[in-house]
Amino acid sequence: MSEVILEAADTAVPIHAVTEAELPGLLETTPPFVPAFVAMSEFKAKAGQVLAIPGEDGTLHTVLFGLGTEPQAMAFRALPAKLTAGVYRIAQAPGGLLRDQIALAFALGSYKFDRYKPRKGGAARLVVDGCDVAEVRQVAHACALARDMINTPANDMGPRQIETIAREIAEQHGATCTVIEGEGLLEANYPAVHAVGRAAVAERAPRMIEIAWGRAGDPLVALVGKGVVFDTGGLDIKPSAGMRLMKKDMGGAAHALALGRMIMAANLPVRLAILVPVVENAISGDAMRPGDVLASRKGLTIEVGNTDAEGRLILADALTRAAELEPALTLDLATLTGAARVALGPQLPPVFTADEDLAADIARHAQAAGDPVWRLPLWAPYDEALDSDVADLKNDPDAWAQAGAVTAALFLKRFAPAGPWAHLDVFAWNNKARPGWSAGGEAQAIRGLYSLIRERFA
Ligand code: BES
Ligand code: MN
Ligand code: ZN
Repeated sequence: MSEVILEAADTAVPIHAVTEAELPGLLETTPPFVPAFVAMSEFKAKAGQVLAIPGEDGTLHTVLFGLGTEPQAMAFRALPAKLTAGVYRIAQAPGGLLRDQIALAFALGSYKFDRYKPRKGGAARLVVDGCDVAEVRQVAHACALARDMINTPANDMGPRQIETIAREIAEQHGATCTVIEGEGLLEANYPAVHAVGRAAVAERAPRMIEIAWGRAGDPLVALVGKGVVFDTGGLDIKPSAGMRLMKKDMGGAAHALALGRMIMAANLPVRLAILVPVVENAISGDAMRPGDVLASRKGLTIEVGNTDAEGRLILADALTRAAELEPALTLDLATLTGAARVALGPQLPPVFTADEDLAADIARHAQAAGDPVWRLPLWAPYDEALDSDVADLKNDPDAWAQAGAVTAALFLKRFAPAGPWAHLDVFAWNNKARPGWSAGGEAQAIRGLYSLIRERFA
């Protein structure tokens, strides 16, 4: 990826980012042709408005970027697509906006998935004085990595490829990466991961990836991510419309790896355990069946009421592993339920936690990072919807409980560590392009969580 945030530049076109209220003040300071051009163009500094102003020699002189009435750093995501290729510099922006966030927004908004169809033309690149370029770049890189992984189809993003990426990330940051694969999962006591993934062809065998990083004595953060490289639904097969996007069902794994990479790149004073169960929920003669009772790492037996509720099965074993490590904080990220989208839509991932301090911290950091999440309850009265006649619990909650995102979170809670734990049911996808958010894979919640971890373990 070529860098869009630059340290410095000899020549750069100045960008003045102004609110509607700030526009008149700006125009008092500019050469007289500028206010005339602005008036003629009906530029009012409305949110997202961009005006490229030519100089008297016909070259680009200045760019005005409207921030409306409530300026937000993430608005700068929309800017790159409106600029021609070249080098720009933020000459003016409201003092309340953090320079790092402006630069990060610009970098996130520059993202395009170009693996199979290279983009035409060059990029707009930006100098933001006073921003921490290395830090902005590493966060942008991590988000782009997650989006690339999610966008890459299952034929090129199978278990093997996710393992390779995990090993590369580990190697880059001096972490160890352990991978348990195929039949080895039974020996190592990851029976649910094995049961979900065993129907795939041998070269796409299930695996449990564990990255360990950090200095002894530092507090442990466990990051768990659902890595279903493709979710057919298994024998309770998904209808075609529901299956269409299921290349993104490893989004949680991509998020956990990206968040872990941010933490390692920033060298935060924590230890990390990144726990990523990776499977293909495939159909074959060896597939798990509705009615099967699975063993789990925790020892609880799980009745498979529906093979399409596979994410919670693999997360059960991964969360049990996390619990064994006694982390100071556990975060899991997963494209777990369609019900989360019914509740909150694609842009707002629900977060579940019983820890009030953690809930407040997540909300505050999500808000500050422009990376929104919304708390939903671990509503205990629905827990009995998970009761099974033949096993300790079942993976398809009774229909009476209705709230599928809540009952999925309650399922995970049975396996989660006793300490602070939050579960994020991410969509990891933009259904529709909007300025600054290209259609396809999206990194959600991890910038806010990164900021939380920075603060909590400073
Ligand atoms: N990966 C899906 C959930 C999903 C679907 C996320 C669409 C994002 C978009 C998950 O494995 C699944 O199929 N969940 C089922 C659970 C049900 C069978 C209890 C669901 O949500 O319908
Ligand atoms: Mn499923
Ligand atoms: Zn799934």
